[in-house]
Amino acid sequence: MSEPILVAVAWPYANAEIHVGNLTGSYLPADIFARYQRMKGRRVLMVSGSDAHGTPITVRADAEKTSPLAVYQRYHATFLELFQQLGLTYDLFTSTHTENHFSVSQKMFLALLKNGYLYRDRQLQWYSLTQQRFLPDRYVEGTCYICGYPNTRSDQCDRCGNVLDPEKLINPRSRIDGSVPELRQTEHYFLDLAKLQPQITEFLRARESYWRPNVLRQSLGLIMTEGLKGRPITRDLDWGIPVPVEGMEGKCLYVWFEAVIGYLSATIEWSHLIGEPEAWHAWWHSPDARSYYFIGKDNIPFHAIIWPGQLIGSGETLDALLGSRDPKPFVLPHDVPANEFMNLEGQKISGSRNWAVWGRDFLSRYDPDPLRYYLTANMPEFRDTDWDWEDFIKRNNDELVATWGNLANRVLSFAYKHWEGVVPDPGELTAQDQELLATVEKGFETVGQELEAVHLRAALGEAMRLATEVNRYLEQTAPWLSIKTDKAAAGRAIYTALRAIDSLKILFAPFLPFSSEKLHRYLGYTEPLFGTQSTLSVSDSLGEHTVLRYHPESATARWQPSQLRPGQPLQPPQPLFRKLDPSVAADERARLGERVSS
Ligand code: MF3
Ligand code: ZN
Repeated sequence: MSEPILVAVAWPYANAEIHVGNLTGSYLPADIFARYQRMKGRRVLMVSGSDAHGTPITVRADAEKTSPLAVYQRYHATFLELFQQLGLTYDLFTSTHTENHFSVSQKMFLALLKNGYLYRDRQLQWYSLTQQRFLPDRYVEGTCYICGYPNTRSDQCDRCGNVLDPEKLINPRSRIDGSVPELRQTEHYFLDLAKLQPQITEFLRARESYWRPNVLRQSLGLIMTEGLKGRPITRDLDWGIPVPVEGMEGKCLYVWFEAVIGYLSATIEWSHLIGEPEAWHAWWHSPDARSYYFIGKDNIPFHAIIWPGQLIGSGETLDALLGSRDPKPFVLPHDVPANEFMNLEGQKISGSRNWAVWGRDFLSRYDPDPLRYYLTANMPEFRDTDWDWEDFIKRNNDELVATWGNLANRVLSFAYKHWEGVVPDPGELTAQDQELLATVEKGFETVGQELEAVHLRAALGEAMRLATEVNRYLEQTAPWLSIKTDKAAAGRAIYTALRAIDSLKILFAPFLPFSSEKLHRYLGYTEPLFGTQSTLSVSDSLGEHTVLRYHPESATARWQPSQLRPGQPLQPPQPLFRKLDPSVAADERARLGERVSS
């Protein structure tokens, strides 16, 4: 029951604010899953951080005539704010720009080198004649040689999703000044994926029965079609983690190679923060540990192929470098439930065109749970979905408010008013009452199974269906009428409904933590359902950085049916959600595409 669960969440590039597509793609599903697993009593560790290095950050810094460090710090601060407002319970949200992460990444590099999975080779790289320097990855744009998309980055295609060989790009041009770069020789380290291919294939085959079809298709597809080839894992760039080998000055570890190592380094940093430096081993070495990687579909090759390859190739050697006296291989990803994309009003989300609903901006006008609700009900689990403002308002009003919020509020207000502010004593429950409770309580299995399988949309839909059952029960028993003639019958129905709502509160809690917490108080409980979040400033040789932490110690929520006791004092209830005026859609649509200075 208490197996260690690592909830590994994609590391957002600290070069832009976070929008709803990012949230529904990986950060929100991870939080829902982590909250659920904690309620099941499992030892959850949810980690991530800002992806601070690489060309995504330097391109932005160049454009703003500022430093990469300043860019990273600015956006990192916005992430911490958003994640607290939205209740994303990272046990640790840190960054890749820490001494600890530098050290763990360099050790993984050295372990791979020692184990013979790295080789040095010359490579052709785009060189800017106007700038007199090599142009890595994102500095070069052109036409995809696989699908023909005319505006792809040189390292990965935004349209077909394939990882590209930058030198094969058609019609290359520099993103800095539009000039045409030329190919020149440079020397780099390569990860020998060809050598790792048998182990990676075996790893994928062992997970074939339960991985999402798109994730399997993309990863096995890469192996089946051309087979894996060595990939350069160093770059001619000065912002990042230095390659820990003499003679490689001025080169850094490729951002993708080191960012994924963050899953490991963050667990080590967390262990030090809680004062148990060895605690991280539970998630990386226990035979019963399971790790889930929450990412968007553009990240699949890096998590389903390259990261497992890094872990397999470094293994015991890395564990020894990290100080283990009894070195063991690392636990490989159990699941990579990658999501597809969410579009916005029928178009691809684009930050630069401001065709986006930004997280912090949204939360300046609306509450977090309606956002969490809509993003879950519309989560792109198996196909792309669309954010539509009219649909958002409709689902808020018809489902969240009408089906769930009104149910809870109506029953609580009625109980509070007619039974002197306490849970009524039902006497003996009728068959109808017991049937309702059995139906709702079965939800702990049915909703739970969907959550275990990371089918979050289906899980939420099932919880909503159970709320509908409670509404139906109330229509049939009509306590508002029977109270005039048979107060005992009304009390029984209200007790039954309160207990059903108390269970629904738990079933909804992973999705709607803020309203479940409120409801929990109205129902008269004094201990909180969930823990608290806080930020902390940490100093190391790279400077000061702020991390976000979740403290689960005070949480009491358990994935168990209500045991609500008659006589429990209630609190005066308030509505859980607000109805939204349909005119809001037009206002919100008018904001899209507007130029903003950021
Ligand atoms: N920064 C990448 C992105 O935003 C995701 C990196 S996930 C990591 O697409 F694990 F590699 F860090
Ligand atoms: Zn393409």
